[in-house]
Amino acid sequence: MEKITSLAKRRGFVFQSSEIYGGQSGAWDYGPLGVELKNRIARNWWKEMTQLHDEIVGLDAAILMHPRTWEASGHIENFTDPLVDCKKCKARFRADQIPPECVSEKKCPECGGELTGVRKFNLMFKTHIGPLESNDESNIIYLRPETAQGIYVNYKNIIQSNRMKLPFGIAQIGKAFRNEIVTKNFIFRTCEFEQMEMQYFVKPGTDVEWFNEWKKRRWAYYEKLGVKMERLRWHQHGADELAHYAKDAYDIEYLFPMGWKELEGVHNRSQYDLTRHTDYSGKDLQYIDQDDGNRKYIPFIIETSAGLTRTLLMLLCDAYDEEKVADKGNEDDYRTVLRFHPTVAPITVAVLPLQKKDGLAELAHDIRAALREDFATDYDQGGAIGRRYRRQDEAGTPFCVTVDYETKENGSVTLRFRDSMNQVRLPRAELAPRLFQEIKTYKRTK
Ligand code: GAP
Repeated sequence: MEKITSLAKRRGFVFQSSEIYGGQSGAWDYGPLGVELKNRIARNWWKEMTQLHDEIVGLDAAILMHPRTWEASGHIENFTDPLVDCKKCKARFRADQIPPECVSEKKCPECGGELTGVRKFNLMFKTHIGPLESNDESNIIYLRPETAQGIYVNYKNIIQSNRMKLPFGIAQIGKAFRNEIVTKNFIFRTCEFEQMEMQYFVKPGTDVEWFNEWKKRRWAYYEKLGVKMERLRWHQHGADELAHYAKDAYDIEYLFPMGWKELEGVHNRSQYDLTRHTDYSGKDLQYIDQDDGNRKYIPFIIETSAGLTRTLLMLLCDAYDEEKVADKGNEDDYRTVLRFHPTVAPITVAVLPLQKKDGLAELAHDIRAALREDFATDYDQGGAIGRRYRRQDEAGTPFCVTVDYETKENGSVTLRFRDSMNQVRLPRAELAPRLFQEIKTYKRTK
């Protein structure tokens, strides 16, 4: 993880928030490569959910919601972590993340000092809205701890405006906030993060079938993204782990450098949320099933909930490779390479003139200009060509185009592949179609 954190900073993927003030824990900033990667992961997921499904539509709901939302959702009552403090060294722990005997014997796992009893700590960030005094309880508002609720409260609007019929889904990507007690392991668990959530509304009695179907689809999604599948596994929540809303839940776990950890959750939220919103809002949230004699019922909800920022960390870990390369006759030469799938790589193609002089730079600019409408491009003319390839390898750029003297003579360029380091020569005019084809047929081999 140290290597990945340092590469992420050095190459401008992720910076610590407010670093010049000593940093803000639980918050991170995404630099030029990081924001491109994040946007591409989001776009890829969005495409998977909306473009590739007739019956899934999108939504972008507000982060600030009516406070009753969180009473209805159960978050005010139940969205808590068990907390203990060491009276001696002042360290703070989640009681469920330290050995149980430390909690029962009230013994600090770090210094052996005395621990406090377990307190429930609500993870929602609370703030105030409007020009009232901050101690006024009437103006409390929360930063949403999950994007899902914005979907539930809009479910009727979407049925009506888009004439949706069960089963159908609503997808959303957005920020969520949790006052996490422990924020370590880089961007794995942060106080401000992004989620990619999809809520699938189904007829009661079909929920188990749809739950299994979405488990399959989400597994296939990571396969398509080229993730090392041996680093993924399912974990079913035991009764003691199930969230207050869940009837059944499975996590897709990834083998991060610090061990197997949750990447995404697939949840059968049953009728919990819509029933609660019916009770708290007084609005009828039943679905009228025209295909079943206008029967009225509350649909079941199957949720797929992935962290966007956590997926970014997963992809950084999954793509990271150090490889011995003897291409310059130097047996000890290593390269660091990020083997991103081309659909999520921050830069798709870099154009590199062999030399700045003799009109090669101008020619390379011209070739880049022809590609940039369709691809995320970069241009680099500084330093030896080998070093420039290494820089692109480290950024995860799958393709480099080299412009040399032959380009001047006959218009051909060299296309270099990041993973194999193989090169092919082709006419300029064939570059864009070839890149489209390479992206479409990409298979990770290493
Ligand atoms: N709507 C359901 C829900 O929020 P969750 O298991 O609490 O379920 C879903 O969160 C996903 O959101 C997790 O699998 C993880 O990828 C991401 N996530 C949750 N808390 C996070 C945090 N503090 N920092 C980064 N990502 C987080």
